[in-house]
Amino acid sequence: MSQSPFGDISIETFLAEYWQKKPLLVRGAYKDFIQPVDADELAGLACEEDVEARLVITAPDNDTWELKHGPFNEDTFAELPDSHWTLLVQAVDNWVPDACDLVEQFRFIPNWRYDDLMVSFASEGGGVGPHYDNYDVFLIQTQGERRWEIGGHFDQHSPRRDDTPVMIIPDWHPEQTWVLEPGDMLYVPPQVGHNGVAVTDDCMTYSVGFRAPSQAEILRGFTDYVGEQLTSESRYADPELTVQEHPGEITPQALEKVRNIFNAFLNDEQKLATWFGEYVTDPKYPELDQSPEDKINSQQLADALSQSELAFVRNEGSRVSFTEQTSGDVLLFVDGQSYPCKGGSIQLAKLLCQTPNLIINQGEWSGDALELLVSLYNRGCIYLAE
Ligand code: SIN
Ligand code: CO
Repeated sequence: MSQSPFGDISIETFLAEYWQKKPLLVRGAYKDFIQPVDADELAGLACEEDVEARLVITAPDNDTWELKHGPFNEDTFAELPDSHWTLLVQAVDNWVPDACDLVEQFRFIPNWRYDDLMVSFASEGGGVGPHYDNYDVFLIQTQGERRWEIGGHFDQHSPRRDDTPVMIIPDWHPEQTWVLEPGDMLYVPPQVGHNGVAVTDDCMTYSVGFRAPSQAEILRGFTDYVGEQLTSESRYADPELTVQEHPGEITPQALEKVRNIFNAFLNDEQKLATWFGEYVTDPKYPELDQSPEDKINSQQLADALSQSELAFVRNEGSRVSFTEQTSGDVLLFVDGQSYPCKGGSIQLAKLLCQTPNLIINQGEWSGDALELLVSLYNRGCIYLAE
């Protein structure tokens, strides 16, 4: 297991006592952290077409909020007030490969739970207001200082301001307040109220976020997936029907048949795993086509490997996971597609899920594994290191 980012608290203790349970403040967790993105670079990213960025401008009385969506331009930044604004950029690790090292330190949490690395830059007084998220987040202060107020458990039924473009918890009464300095980290579990306000003019916070599908998404997603594979002739059937006492009754036997329809699909190991793996590895931005202009085939890969080893890098925006089946075979999931793996390709599948850097040598890998590499390369899920 990798080194704990929680100081004296081990990763095992963090998971047992804090993860999804209660906040944790770690002073000096990232003391020597070199920021892969500074404020100017963040503003530059926020001007790019494909980058998801927001600006939240707060009135100095902290009672009204304005929300703007990117892409921005130089004028947007020139027109900002002197204080009380924050710029938030999502998925910075998709665009800045150096930012991935930070995320790799959180791989003790399964890949499929990871959402993205968001980076914010705020002027004094800037923040998004008191709110809660449905996600787990590790907030790492990398520059300047931010006051974090934490407290209370909230859900969809909790009161919220209806006159603001961002979610704001009214009558905010924090239970704890900490000022985070560069290198400090705060873990906030889902539904815990939090409010981060920049207390310096150069406040940067890196948020490593983890998502979890809602039960509604799981139920709808799976039934949609199964439903699409069925013909309209696959129906509730009751050839053994006998006369029942009351024609109005939906009998326990009828309900049992309905339950059995669900069970038949749920108990199909392959179906549930395939749907779930494809669903949770769907890329954050599926509309972005990452595939290379020049595709390769197996022969070209074999020829290149006969010259020298090849270093591949997992695409920063790719999501990868696998499941092991009772047969010992593996189903690899990459960006919403599944790849059944047997024999030699199993090791490659697991390696791809373990590390963003793959060094491939001639002779070390089976034909299956090289075929898998070709498919992944042609989809843009891996690329050749410079
Ligand atoms: C931030 O302002 O960097 C974090 C926003 C949040 O609380 O989710
Ligand atoms: Co939040």
